[in-house]
Amino acid sequence: MDKRSVKLAPSILAADFARLGEQVADAAQAGADRIHVDVMDGRFVPNLSMGAPIVQSLRRVTRLPVETHLMVADPDVFLEEFAEAGADLLLVHWEGNNNLHRTVHRVKALGKKVGVVINPATPAAVLEEILQDLEQVLVMTVNPGFGHQHFLHTTLPKIRRVRRMIAESKPGCDLEVDGGIDAATAPLVVAAGANVLVAGSAIFGDGDGVAAAMNRLRAAINDGAT
Ligand code: DX5
Ligand code: ZN
Repeated sequence: MDKRSVKLAPSILAADFARLGEQVADAAQAGADRIHVDVMDGRFVPNLSMGAPIVQSLRRVTRLPVETHLMVADPDVFLEEFAEAGADLLLVHWEGNNNLHRTVHRVKALGKKVGVVINPATPAAVLEEILQDLEQVLVMTVNPGFGHQHFLHTTLPKIRRVRRMIAESKPGCDLEVDGGIDAATAPLVVAAGANVLVAGSAIFGDGDGVAAAMNRLRAAINDGAT
């Protein structure tokens, strides 16, 4: 993986919502490549977060691509709403979706990019028949539902596996990771083949501010082993 082409996607779950516009502007200024929006419905994961109005507000204050990570029991119900709100990429989970192919093609029909997310206990192999249709795969490196959890090192071999699958059957597909990404774990996931890194608390929870945190992450990636 070319370290210079690694993209950073700050997750606003860890941002100060009272200053959201300012925090996103800081992230953009510091070189964020996208904004990651975590949508939780209290059913798919045991937590509630935010919905399409936040994407609509973000759309007014940033030109960065906005990706929405849908941790909801029935994503099909919300696809249109998020597309209309201005999301650029919709990320839907493999887990709990009996009609994933249909969901993926609904996103495409809305003119949006689409990614499939797999949880830590879900094998890479489930992607085999859907990979062709995707712009992105998201490998969860924590169990979804909460920010600021510990990175699961057991997901590293899976990231390597997904990278191999992409190289074989869908070159150009992004491989994103999400959960517990900080200056210590970022070099590990990049070495394993990830090229888009979500980070919440490591960016918005850093006492030194968003810019310093983003610089620290970038430096860790650039200094890390290939
Ligand atoms: C977890 C979310 C993540 C979360 C990451 O369910 O999908 O995007 O915001 O937070 P950190 O980077 O703090 O682990
Ligand atoms: Zn997420």
